Amino acid sequence: MTSKGQVLKDIKNKIKSLEDYSENEEYVLIEKSLNITKEQLFLKQNFISSELGKISRKLKRRLSGEPINKIFKEQNFFGFDFYINKNVLAPRKETEELVERVSMDIKKSKEGVKLLDMCTGSGCIGLTLKLICKDKVNVEISDIDKKALSVARLNAEKFGLKTRVKIKKSNMFERLKSDEKFDIITCNPPYISKSEYNKLSNGVKNFDPKIALLGGEDGLDFYRILAKEGSNYLLKNGRMYLEIGYNQKSKVEKIFKDYNYKFECYKDYSNNDRIVKVWK
Ligand SMILES: C[S@@+](CC[C@H](N)C(=O)[O-])C[C@H]1O[C@@H](n2cnc3c(N)ncnc32)[C@H](O)[C@@H]1O
Repeated sequence: MTSKGQVLKDIKNKIKSLEDYSENEEYVLIEKSLNITKEQLFLKQNFISSELGKISRKLKRRLSGEPINKIFKEQNFFGFDFYINKNVLAPRKETEELVERVSMDIKKSKEGVKLLDMCTGSGCIGLTLKLICKDKVNVEISDIDKKALSVARLNAEKFGLKTRVKIKKSNMFERLKSDEKFDIITCNPPYISKSEYNKLSNGVKNFDPKIALLGGEDGLDFYRILAKEGSNYLLKNGRMYLEIGYNQKSKVEKIFKDYNYKFECYKDYSNNDRIVKVWK
């Protein structure tokens, strides 16, 4: 038997130097390893050896650089616990800002809204919008990667949306019919350039899929596709909401202005340029 205080201290000492360590992570690691709540951990005084074994197996993975959300296959996004695995990008806090903007837009619309979430990964954007805007929005989600789509499908099932959301495998617009049109297209595409990719932290590079990150040589390939083809799939007054890298605003603006889109950019919670709205 080892005291809780000692175990917490030992774990913290080991993980605090990890580049993606976050405050109080040692508590989460124990709670999730033992499948207990915060309150149950609070009341505990000691750990028996079988519990220590469970904790140390997960700790070993954490020390190898694996992020905590990938170890426990779960990431909270907008209050919903999404299942994730190595085949999808773990949903990021910044992306919640995009969901918030789009949900305000949907709520303001007089009519029901037809929405396509491209590059959906775990499904976090499209499924969350369906969960919060309910029947006001009709949602289709798509991705090129069938392993990512399996995760999105599991999440749709988990949130009771399996029959209420359409899921499609498509390389960007390739599998859409020319008469399929939407009021809103959302997309958080891969937007890391080749040179930035090499500088990413190990937690990202080794545990988020490359296909979810790399946006071509300069990171902008997907915006070029969205600018060139997007308007063909928008209804009258249709708009696209896209996530961009914090340093990409002016380049993305030029790409869309060259195709005569109007362009607005909003900051994320950390005051970085992050969300773009484009329309014609
Ligand atoms: C940055 S992740 C975004 C995932 C999720 N939407 C989010 O915000 O967390 C980009 C996603 O784009 C998908 N993707 C990459 N290339 C694609 C393509 N050519 N067509 C459609 N999806 C693509 C990847 O599989 C990945 O799931």
